[in-house]
Amino acid sequence: MSDIAKRNAAIEALKLVEDGMTLGLGTGSTAAFFVEELGKKVQLGLDVICVSTSEVTEAQARSLNIPMADLDTAPTIHLTIDGADEFDPELRLIKGGGAALLREKIIADSSDMMVVITDASKQVAQLGAFPLPVEVNPFGMALTKARIEETLEILGMYGIHVNVRLNEGGGPLLTDGGHHILDLHCKAIPDPDMLGAVLDQIPGVVEHGLFLDIADAVIIGTETGAETIA
Ligand code: 5RP
Repeated sequence: MSDIAKRNAAIEALKLVEDGMTLGLGTGSTAAFFVEELGKKVQLGLDVICVSTSEVTEAQARSLNIPMADLDTAPTIHLTIDGADEFDPELRLIKGGGAALLREKIIADSSDMMVVITDASKQVAQLGAFPLPVEVNPFGMALTKARIEETLEILGMYGIHVNVRLNEGGGPLLTDGGHHILDLHCKAIPDPDMLGAVLDQIPGVVEHGLFLDIADAVIIGTETGAETIA
């Protein structure tokens, strides 16, 4: 995915932003282009308040003097703009490649409108080639991992590797919420609704990266512009 395509998707998304809006800011390299472009508009007088999906995005937005709030003081979010790791024809998503899926889902789910910015490389016929991130509580993580593996087999999804995501030092990566991430190498997810529902039932699972019935539109950036699917 080229930086030009990412920026073009971000610039297209910016057209949806109006004065007085509360915005949810996503996480990842594409979302970072949106924050950068938004910062330019704020400098020119655009009046928005933003809620961030991660500490990294929060720091970027603050460095650009974008007014920030937390979700409890700004609970009505008009529009969230975020990236994705995969999207299918029903606009179902895999997210969490940047380990921010918990806050991303809380904010996306409470937004009047959630728009994904991406490029065509994230478009798939069926979700699952991208490893599905699952955020888990560190307490009893090995047990939670075993329960997930058993559950995948019950669903007929055999031989799926579940890996603990590591940080640069080789230890388990810590999310902004103090949790760890398990990456499920499903290769294909034939029934995302079923998998999402069963993962929701496993103790220790904090959240999973299947965003179903959440995205309202996907803006696909290209080298020359952008196309919107809704
Ligand atoms: C972070 C995410 C990101 O939106 C996703 O990983 C896409 O990132 P990028 O724009 O860098 O490809 O879900 O948790």
